[in-house]
Amino acid sequence: MWLRRCSAPGVRSALLPLGLLGAVLLGAAFTPACATTQDDDVGEDVGEEAYTTQGKCDGLPRLKNLQTPPGVCVGIVTTGITFARGIAELPSGDFVLAAMGGWALDKGSVWILRRLPDGTYSRTRVAKLIDKPSGVAVGPDGLPYIGTPNGIFRFDPYEQTADPLPRRGAFRDTDYKQPRLKLVIRDLPGTGRHPLSRFVFDKRSPWTVYANVGSASDNCEQGASAQPPSGFPSPCPEAEGDNARGVIRKYDLSNPDHVANGFTVVARGLRNSMALAVHPTSGALLQSENSRDSINKRDASLTDHEGDLPHEEINVIVPGAHYGWPYCYDNGAVAPEYRGRVDCSRYTNPALLLPGHAAPLGMAFYTGQLFPTPYQGNLLVGYHGYRSHGHRLTLVPVDANGIPGAGEPLDIIRGWEKSADGNDPQGAPVDVMVAKDGSIYLTEDKNGTVLRVFFDRTQGDGAPMRPVAPTQPVVSADEQARCRDLARRTDPFSAVQRDVIDTACVSCHGVGPGYAGGLRLDKCDAVGNAKRLRAARTGGREAYVTPQNLNSELVLRLKGQGYPQMPAGGVSPEQLEEVEAWIRAGAPIPQ
Ligand code: HEC
Repeated sequence: MWLRRCSAPGVRSALLPLGLLGAVLLGAAFTPACATTQDDDVGEDVGEEAYTTQGKCDGLPRLKNLQTPPGVCVGIVTTGITFARGIAELPSGDFVLAAMGGWALDKGSVWILRRLPDGTYSRTRVAKLIDKPSGVAVGPDGLPYIGTPNGIFRFDPYEQTADPLPRRGAFRDTDYKQPRLKLVIRDLPGTGRHPLSRFVFDKRSPWTVYANVGSASDNCEQGASAQPPSGFPSPCPEAEGDNARGVIRKYDLSNPDHVANGFTVVARGLRNSMALAVHPTSGALLQSENSRDSINKRDASLTDHEGDLPHEEINVIVPGAHYGWPYCYDNGAVAPEYRGRVDCSRYTNPALLLPGHAAPLGMAFYTGQLFPTPYQGNLLVGYHGYRSHGHRLTLVPVDANGIPGAGEPLDIIRGWEKSADGNDPQGAPVDVMVAKDGSIYLTEDKNGTVLRVFFDRTQGDGAPMRPVAPTQPVVSADEQARCRDLARRTDPFSAVQRDVIDTACVSCHGVGPGYAGGLRLDKCDAVGNAKRLRAARTGGREAYVTPQNLNSELVLRLKGQGYPQMPAGGVSPEQLEEVEAWIRAGAPIPQ
């Protein structure tokens, strides 16, 4: 924590984990709107696990254990940003950064990063108490637009006001009167499995916004224990109609107030469009698809342990087209739930298949001059996924109009696995942005960092790397030992761990920093998880689980009684029964 004085530039002591950036100076010319006295939403979950650095990358601490093409390096811009998400460059040359903060309500904040003459960055929080800010884009007015689950707002980060911060509470319709943050799109559904907002402005019609509306379910299942065919209706109600999920919506902001009034659905059958990019000259809109999970639960022949199916996709968006979710995947393959019930030839195929579960969360056309010819005009795509195909920055060759298919994706950064000495953390890129100086900025939310990718032609030719066959999944020795131990255990919580937590919760609650809702449930960690579920909580709240009490918060959450249901759609009756059996038995912590 540090104290910050507003409108009075000065030195603040920086609790940056690496201690490498030293004291952070607020730029003397910049007196940001600011009314907070302490930094309460960064630096707490992140810090111990820090990257190893060696030397410099254009003046920044250079990451040591990553593989990059000759002459390409990766430098640390800033650390300690919990759930760093969208980033964009303002006309002033400053960067605006969305820090999601975590999955709980209103933990997010917006930051301005400014490169100082000494090469370090100042970092100033300009808005807080924002609900899960994710996408960031600069509008035709030069202002930053920030996407939240319920809507998209714009604001002037340099504006000086007496009351610059929004009041507590989700930034929703009722906050529209908040003068500083202007909600310009206010009807995003923001519920279910994929609530996060990403969007882009059209190049040809500048006040047009294309916004992701992710699906509420995984693959249209009606409840977690749904069985085909009745549990997977055809047509899927969620995927069709005016208010469908799994679509890209088009909003017109061209009116004098630049506030949307309704939307049209541009394209559907797109499960979660977390990366969107508009080609700078042709205007082509590209989407990258985060495809469904658990296809092997329906048909074990469809995947291996590495989750190769279904592939992720890059789609070229044609207005009015339907891209097949949830009925079809890959190039016209019918989903196991919909066999015999749909005709996949009716749906538009992707332009390119990407590796399964790569989780592309950000992409940008390389429009700069700094990197050599093989990069120019091509598409940079960041893979967030933790499996071995994921966590890398790739370059997808495209034609002059930005259409992929000109060749397979090449690697620009890889090696974000834990190093042999265990010192380097995994990394997971989120947003990808090309700055005016031609360098590439990445947000990376596994370690809460912003990174800058730079090319020095005196150090190599920068040639992108051929992809390597994925290695075995990266699982720590600790986790392997825990999983072996768990397989032998017979106590009631270990059954819950195997059948409920490992199958239905760890994908969100086992991923730090932040952990969904602040609740940590690690894979195979029966002892630790049982303790965490039994422990008293801050703020005088009861433990998630009290022995013998079947109205414990955990049970109510699983049933969706009095709380939003966990996970969306709930668990099966058999899974619920295992949880209740453990609680009835006195909720013992495994020994
Ligand atoms: C798709 C991601 C996801 C999955 C899967 C998921 N959760 Fe959550 N969980 C969240 C998010 C996001 C929150 C915080 C928002 C909220 O409270 O609704 C949360 C909150 C919670 C909370 C309340 C935490 C608090 O103190 O506010 C509990 C308890 C919980 N989850 C239990 C579970 C259990 C048990 C499972 C598995 C059966 C599970 N969740 C699966 C995303 C997930």
